[in-house]
Amino acid sequence: MRHNDTPSFPERELEPDAAAHADRVRDALAARIAAAGGCIAFEEFMEFALYAPGLGYYSGGAEKLGKDGDFTTAPELSSLFGACVAVQCEQVLAHIEAPILMEIGAGTGRLALDVLLRLESLGRLPAGYWILDNSADLKARQRSLFEQRAPHLLDRVHWLDTPPAGEFDGVIIANEVLDALPVARFCWRPGGTQELGVVARAEGFAWGARAASPAMVAACEALRSAAGGWDEAYVSEYCPRLEAWTRAVTQRLRRGAVLWFDYGLPRAQYYFAQRHEGTLLCHYRHRAHDDPLSNPGLQDITAWVDFTALAEASSAGGFELAGFTTQAHFLAATGIDVEMQRLAAGDTARYARLASEARQLMLPGEMGERFKVMAWLRGMDLSLRGMTLVDLRHSL
Ligand SMILES: C[S@@+](CC[C@H](N)C(=O)[O-])C[C@H]1O[C@@H](n2cnc3c(N)ncnc32)[C@H](O)[C@@H]1O
Repeated sequence: MRHNDTPSFPERELEPDAAAHADRVRDALAARIAAAGGCIAFEEFMEFALYAPGLGYYSGGAEKLGKDGDFTTAPELSSLFGACVAVQCEQVLAHIEAPILMEIGAGTGRLALDVLLRLESLGRLPAGYWILDNSADLKARQRSLFEQRAPHLLDRVHWLDTPPAGEFDGVIIANEVLDALPVARFCWRPGGTQELGVVARAEGFAWGARAASPAMVAACEALRSAAGGWDEAYVSEYCPRLEAWTRAVTQRLRRGAVLWFDYGLPRAQYYFAQRHEGTLLCHYRHRAHDDPLSNPGLQDITAWVDFTALAEASSAGGFELAGFTTQAHFLAATGIDVEMQRLAAGDTARYARLASEARQLMLPGEMGERFKVMAWLRGMDLSLRGMTLVDLRHSL
């Protein structure tokens, strides 16, 4: 996943509009750094670069996902993904009266569309499909996708600006959202821990270091001990807001399931001594690189998910862990072969295309193993179909 030796993309590749946008973001960030006395935490830098109103990557109007954007995701790659997610949701929705499906971070709306179309064909449409997304651009794109492709389903789709205030029963899904939460970056050395922040130089942004807070020192010691120790300088990141954020977005689910899809690892593997430069990964125009400080506002910045941290946060929030498996095994268990036959509808050329998409979703060298699925239940006891092939819970 990580491309350590790929240089950051050169400025000269930027089109004039993109370069002007990057300048605006850079000026705003430089002013913020100056006001903070010369250095801001990387977590603050990442939050600004991704989400600052009108400036950040997710709020600044760029194309982002899909073939004309910067990166692709499982639902963008194939409708097979949404069909399999729908099959899993259907099993849960069947036990709930007037259920709600809530998607967090819906991107272009492809997953929402594919899930609802498959649930419709299964005769199991939810009473409502709520989308919680903090990007106004993407919300507009999601609505227009439904207007074009499934206007008859639009009355079920509701867009939320904040997590729901009232209780509901149903299923919450999120694909590749946790990896977009801002992370704190640290450098551990045998003599002590430093927080890595961002400073502004004439030639651009650069890493700066300052003494870590007691909370960061304690967090790093816990990560180091989970990983079996680090002997030499070790740079990585963790997500301090993970627990509060996951609690805020899931706490109103009274009865049902939460399904998280993302790339990441259990803690002991994530913080393995040899992964000593962390997991930050950026995307710009389908090129991946590892320099989050270049061209802020124009590129996506992500970090792998520590699934042990997600497990701790979700169980503290009152959920029961119902499964942890790879994307490949989830898709196999939810019947991707059946979905291929159904979507191909006897068209052999279409079947061949779907088979190629299935390979990208499932092969270990593609998305099959790096991407994991973690399922949680509250108020119900079910053996979730997608979790039946391989159980990775012991690794958490
Ligand atoms: C990488 S995209 C994934 C989109 C989609 N799930 C997919 O798989 O194609 C991340 C999505 O999460 C949204 N997002 C990021 N942080 C969020 C937050 N804190 N709350 C709600 N949505 C968020 C972004 O606006 C975007 O729609």
